[in-house]
Amino acid sequence: MTGSQGPARTVARRTVVAAVGGAGLAVALTACGGSDDGGQTVSEKPAGGEAGGGAAGKVLAKTADIPEGGGKVIGDVVVTQPKAGEFKAFSSKCTHQGCAVKDVSAGVIHCPCHGSQFDATDGSVKAGPATTPLPSASITVVGDSINLA
Ligand code: FES
Repeated sequence: MTGSQGPARTVARRTVVAAVGGAGLAVALTACGGSDDGGQTVSEKPAGGEAGGGAAGKVLAKTADIPEGGGKVIGDVVVTQPKAGEFKAFSSKCTHQGCAVKDVSAGVIHCPCHGSQFDATDGSVKAGPATTPLPSASITVVGDSINLA
């Protein structure tokens, strides 16, 4: 009787040890993942991107914030809506001497420094002194959010 219980107890004890060891390993891995890669989880990325500025995926604006025929300067980017539902984005840095373009109206992006004007559809120069188009910026529209691509 006792002889047959002995091996059973040993097996049971090993099982418990293995289970505890496994749990300990899982805890260790979780702790490592959390401390080493703070930005790894999907929920933390958007917050980090916004704080850093210019990160891909960063939400620039809501579609409702960009008037049709107009636009909005958001940091380094000017987002325009030349036609209803069509959104474009360009660098907000004027190609003349680097001022930030200011306002967008009637399909034209205006630079306040020396009066350059750029087309809100393709960034091309409509009036100098600038001679180089505004570089386009890649955006994606997801639902009602306009994001940097
Ligand atoms: Fe924009 Fe001169 S810097 S017009």
